Amino acid sequence: MHKKYKDHFLFSTRKIVNEIVQLKKKQEQYRALLGHPLTLTEKLLFSHSETNPEFPIKRGITEIALKPNRVILPDSSGQMVWLQFATMQLDSTKVPTTTHCDHLIEAVKNNENDLAIANEINNEVYNFLKNASQKYGADFWEAGSGIIHQVALERYVLPGSIILGTDSHTPNAGGLTALGVGIGGATAVEVMSGFPWKTVMPKILGVHLKGNMEVWTSPKDIILKIANQIGVSGANGYIIEYFGKGIESISATGRATICNMGTEIGATSSIFPYDSHTIQYLKATQRKRFSSSVNDYKDCLVPDIEIEKDPNHFFDKLISIDLNKLEPQINGPFSPDNGNNNSDFKIKVKQNNWPNEISAAFIGSCTNSSYEDLLRAASIAEKAKAFGLKTKCPLYISPGSANIKETADRDGIIKTFLDVGAIILANACGPCVGMWKRNESEKNTDNTIITSFNRNFAGRNDGSAKTHAFLMSPEMVIAKALSGKLDFNPKTDVLETHKSEKIELKPEPRQSIPKAGFILNDLGYIRATTKNSNLKIPTSERIKPFKAFEAWDGKDLENLYVLCKSQGKCTTDQISPAGEWLKYRGNLERISEHLFLGVSNTFSKKTGTGINQITGEIEPLSKIAKDYSDLKIPWVLVGEENLGEGSSREHAALEPRYRNCKAVIAISFARIFENNLKRHGLLALTFENPNDYKKVESNDRISILNLKSISPGQKIRLEIIRPDKTIEYFYAKHNMSVEQIMWFQKGGAINYLNSRIIN
Ligand code: F3S
Repeated sequence: MHKKYKDHFLFSTRKIVNEIVQLKKKQEQYRALLGHPLTLTEKLLFSHSETNPEFPIKRGITEIALKPNRVILPDSSGQMVWLQFATMQLDSTKVPTTTHCDHLIEAVKNNENDLAIANEINNEVYNFLKNASQKYGADFWEAGSGIIHQVALERYVLPGSIILGTDSHTPNAGGLTALGVGIGGATAVEVMSGFPWKTVMPKILGVHLKGNMEVWTSPKDIILKIANQIGVSGANGYIIEYFGKGIESISATGRATICNMGTEIGATSSIFPYDSHTIQYLKATQRKRFSSSVNDYKDCLVPDIEIEKDPNHFFDKLISIDLNKLEPQINGPFSPDNGNNNSDFKIKVKQNNWPNEISAAFIGSCTNSSYEDLLRAASIAEKAKAFGLKTKCPLYISPGSANIKETADRDGIIKTFLDVGAIILANACGPCVGMWKRNESEKNTDNTIITSFNRNFAGRNDGSAKTHAFLMSPEMVIAKALSGKLDFNPKTDVLETHKSEKIELKPEPRQSIPKAGFILNDLGYIRATTKNSNLKIPTSERIKPFKAFEAWDGKDLENLYVLCKSQGKCTTDQISPAGEWLKYRGNLERISEHLFLGVSNTFSKKTGTGINQITGEIEPLSKIAKDYSDLKIPWVLVGEENLGEGSSREHAALEPRYRNCKAVIAISFARIFENNLKRHGLLALTFENPNDYKKVESNDRISILNLKSISPGQKIRLEIIRPDKTIEYFYAKHNMSVEQIMWFQKGGAINYLNSRIIN
């Protein structure tokens, strides 16, 4: 690595070390104030608190204000962050920030081809992101440099820090004892502008890992198992803290896999304590100085010893997993919590009639694209390669970063994959975020894909609800890809050559740090500088300057149309789809043309459609929203449980707001989606009585009353006005703080913050 870059990374290391010294003092102070030992989560949160919170601190209730250490932005959501940041009256970000070009690279053919196309078609967006980063002093990572969370883990994450990112898998940082939290774009703007990050003190879920993993079990199986046990909203409002003897067998990158997928069960963040694995990874990635400097302060980065002795007393919930008994997991299709044990999966494939032929297999995504992941999978491929076998279905590999790709290339891993017929894709998100250019006929028939990714909602990878996506470890992906069958069990089944030779597959022991070290050339890295201050925001199909929304007019919201009442799972992906529409993230008008494309509406059979109250016709919801907006008709969205789960996609809130939505009323919300709605000046309300969800009909109008007197914790009265003018009422709850009520009144958090900067 170039010396000036190295110095730059170490500069932040020194700063964090100084902070750790301060952390120790603060932790001692809080331990005394609270009068009990501290969990690791509490240590990290309290030591970043800007002001003393109100005592007693109640988990799940008390608001805390924190000073995070870093903000990370992917290219997709980063566009809107920089467009919003440009409306603030600031010369530079107040918190170190990085931009990563990883989401917009389409997987078409292979790394070289796809990267060249991405650089051509995204040229305007990449230039904007680079110019904005340079104007405001943020590091910039070009397309092909790697997936945001892998790059962050390799180069930026330091134990003890808090990292916020506008991607929901930012908790990946927990593998290195940092609290990573996914946030919406407007929250990022707030923090980048120097304001504290305000959040509710989370509850803490302790996960006690016992025993050791058997040969086919991997870190991925731990989180897949937990997902199956507690479901996609089971950790809503929690930070997950791992402890116990079992963690000793899991490397830093393996831990990052587990923390990464805590997002799939709703966790705010996940964290592992600091130990020899953390030190080993820091040393291997040029952060040796950090680990030696904090040696005397290690107790700041682990829970107090009393916690492990009596976990029930200190955690709000406790899960225990015996790794000796854990077998490989296969979760799917259609939801990351649809868990299956490897041992009875064969029967389940048959019983459920899941397509047994695998149409494509993938190893990659921020969850499982580390050196360790690739090496383990390659060790299985080696066995098949020795007999001249190749995979029976297309196998795509996306290394997590250019550094991993170069290291894997040097160590022969990439060659092994190529020899068994794999295609190496760009070091990017690719098919994980739906950027997979797939043959139409392939995706329009029932088919199975297997991936090491973290999400498998219908349509996530190729936009098709017919694609059954199953999540599993990289080891299981390659074994099944070599057989071509979903129900292949590598622990009991064998591959056969054309000479009828039987080949047993088995992975080599895990190795997270390359014997010859990592190659850390940081290809595509452009250091933060404020020298290039010439930022011109283009107005084009891809990018359009952000215009702040209008403030609330002070009147009750009356006669709102019901645009859609979603039924069942309604993710941010379904509200604002990625895939081919991802490219319009910088232009609200263009991207809103695809609003609600994947949403299942109670009032219409076909996904993404509803009844247009103006024409009386069944039409796409995106068109109805535009019609209402053009006619200045305000409307509401109604939803069920955990509305807006999945990605941290701010556009799922921005697009409805842009199209004149005034409120979203649900049985419950996913954390980030709810916050995004509030930040953009929408009312996020929950039915006081969940049964009231059933009362709302398509041609009703809804009025939200007494808004002038709205205050924290106060119920809100809503009226349903039926077509015959009869009125029914119900109550809804909100969880806005005084400041968040100001966001609503000002028309959005950006307006509120700007007024604070100017005044
Ligand atoms: Fe990218 Fe998929 Fe992770 S979209 S950031 S690789 S979850």
